[in-house]
Amino acid sequence: MSERRPQIGMIVACSENRVIGREGGLPWHLPDDLRHFMRTTLGCPVIMGRKTFASLNGPLPRRINIVVSRTMKRHEDGVIVVGSLDEGLAYAGTLVEGTDSPIWIAGGGEIYRLGMSRADLIVRTLVHEVLDGDVVFPEIDPSAWELRETEFHGEDDRHPYSFSIEWWDRAAGDPTEQD
Ligand SMILES: NC(=O)c1ccc[n+]([C@@H]2O[C@H](COP(=O)([O-])OP(=O)(O)OC[C@H]3O[C@@H](n4cnc5c(N)ncnc54)[C@H](OP(=O)(O)O)[C@@H]3O)[C@@H](O)[C@H]2O)c1
Repeated sequence: MSERRPQIGMIVACSENRVIGREGGLPWHLPDDLRHFMRTTLGCPVIMGRKTFASLNGPLPRRINIVVSRTMKRHEDGVIVVGSLDEGLAYAGTLVEGTDSPIWIAGGGEIYRLGMSRADLIVRTLVHEVLDGDVVFPEIDPSAWELRETEFHGEDDRHPYSFSIEWWDRAAGDPTEQD
């Protein structure tokens, strides 16, 4: 049996100035990006902070929802509540053991900051606009991460901004990665 540890990805959408949130929600509505988020995370454990969970209309369907919180009660309908990101990663690891499923960290700002040293992969939708907001995604350090692939989506009737979906891999030998 392989002892390979599961892949940990962070999935995010941010503006050119790294904004991800405004007043507890998203600063945009980009349906094709939401579809990309749903497709990418389907069937996988998804870890999020309590404030991000509060911004949703309940648990994300067909995913194991893991919420990081010091204040929520341990048993909440449809979600698993954990006391730290590492507890969430350890629990998710037991669920995906022996499979190829990644574990996704899905925000918000506080949880992404904690996840930066844990992740192997960042899937970032870069919204091509400078926008106001109150929560940001951390800077991606170009010496620690390599951009593997980019897919452009133009502006149209349903999408007020163009965006690019980027796949970033942790650079080999990056010293900031945590075991
Ligand atoms: N654009 C995107 O891709 C994207 C993705 C996700 C979220 N967002 C946006 O981001 C915003 C929310 O982000 P946020 O930074 O305000 O909040 P958040 O990261 O979603 O949640 C913060 C909460 O997580 C818990 N937490 C954080 N660190 C912890 C730790 N070390 N141990 C235990 N619990 C911990 C705390 O919950 P308790 O207070 O319960 O202890 C804290 O209040 C919203 O606007 C949302 O729409 C955007």
